[in-house]
Amino acid sequence: MVMEEKRVFLNGPVVSGWVISVLMGVMMVVMAGCAGGWKGEARYRIGVSQCLDDAWRQKMNYEMERELLLHPDMMLSRRIAYGSNALQCAQIDSFVSERVDLLIVSPNEAEEVKPAVTRAYRAGIPVIVADRRVTGEEWTAFIGGDNYKVGQLMARWIREKKPVHVLEVAGLPGSTPATLRHKGMTDGLPEGIEVHSVMGSWYREEAYAVVSDYLAKQGEADVIVAHNDLMAIGAAEAVRDSKRYVGRKIPIMGVDGIKPGLQAIVDGLTECTATYSSRGDMVIDAAARILHGEPYVRDTVLETTLVDIKAAYPMLRQDEAITRDLETLHLVQTQSENRWKQLKQDKRILFLCLVVSFVLLLLAFGYIIFRQSRLQTEIKQEILPQLETMQEAIQLSRRDEAFAERMKQIVDEHVTDPNLNVEYLGSMLQLSRTQLFRRVKAVTGKGPLDYIRERRLIRADQLLYTTDMTIQQVALEMCFSSASYFSKCYKEYFGHLPSER
Ligand code: FRU
Repeated sequence: MVMEEKRVFLNGPVVSGWVISVLMGVMMVVMAGCAGGWKGEARYRIGVSQCLDDAWRQKMNYEMERELLLHPDMMLSRRIAYGSNALQCAQIDSFVSERVDLLIVSPNEAEEVKPAVTRAYRAGIPVIVADRRVTGEEWTAFIGGDNYKVGQLMARWIREKKPVHVLEVAGLPGSTPATLRHKGMTDGLPEGIEVHSVMGSWYREEAYAVVSDYLAKQGEADVIVAHNDLMAIGAAEAVRDSKRYVGRKIPIMGVDGIKPGLQAIVDGLTECTATYSSRGDMVIDAAARILHGEPYVRDTVLETTLVDIKAAYPMLRQDEAITRDLETLHLVQTQSENRWKQLKQDKRILFLCLVVSFVLLLLAFGYIIFRQSRLQTEIKQEILPQLETMQEAIQLSRRDEAFAERMKQIVDEHVTDPNLNVEYLGSMLQLSRTQLFRRVKAVTGKGPLDYIRERRLIRADQLLYTTDMTIQQVALEMCFSSASYFSKCYKEYFGHLPSER
């Protein structure tokens, strides 16, 4: 039975270990599910580096976000350089060190931003250059407008006006649109037209300042061409505020065809604009194709057209509808982002709960295993020896009982035999005198002689009680030397004389 007990106890930790392994496995699977396997979570992170944050770029950003709805496996992380080449390079470099899956760059100035783009490209990150180009060929795809053609449209419009002096409000000179628009325009102008260039760097305020200054310094301008709509508006405001041109209007052309530009045409501030599509949707589509390993067009050049007052009004209406769409899109996006945040939070809580319960489970199992091994040790070291001692004691007492029984039998058989003494009893029990004394003392608490006498007195008492024998006769029968000695012994044992019974 003890062995059986041992077996059960020893099996305990083995079973617990097995249970723990299974539980751990199940928990790991559940935790892994919680940690990252949520359906819908973006797989690709795309870094977007925008050189500026004006109306044209905001439109481009919206277009990208809208297209992104079709690609739930992609997410955008956008950084704006606010016209700083150094900041843009640093932002691109940080995208590279974050190991984004793809980079979209709209470079501020071609030459200055090129090194960062090259670093990203050489680091194995696909790079889509959008709108403005970088010099060299180390990029994956390009999507942008035909700036030379924009320049040609400007030239065509200028030619129609037959001016002598053209004031060109140019964009940032290091950017490819500024360079190509200027070239397209000058290439398309006949001899005899004088082009004066001032630099507005793409900003409305800057254009206002340089045009005001130009006019104040008696500069001549029969027409003004600005490299974008915002600068065209700035130039128109400068003309309006110029003392030299009070009551006079200078025809002004912009580029882009974005909402403020169209509004300026409708309001009569400027005369026309050339479209310059941002097409953020195409950029995202190309990104998806590259990331999914599908075929894509490496160099996409977008068309441009002239927009006059006739085209501007419907375009403005369309633009307003798009803006409304974009606002709705933004609302939906914010709502969906909030849901995602909640989902992520829940996920974190669930994960925490699992970790806590896992730790508690481990602690519980650890404690059980510890307790089992302690119990086993206690059983081995304390209980089992005690059991063994008890078993030994039981066996010992059984031996004593058997001995006492045999001795009683022998003594009772020979109780009337005068030869029954210590030697006789010892020989019958095959024990030496000392052994006999020790064992009789152990089982009866008295010496062998006293024991023999006790048995004789008990038999004597029976005889007195059951027969007509006299005390004298009984004393002799029970081997007492005299009746008086028998009476003395009898009284000592029973507490009264045999005659008093
Ligand atoms: C917007 C913008 C546009 C212009 C384009 C050229 O940031 O200035 O107005 O057409 O960039 O890259």
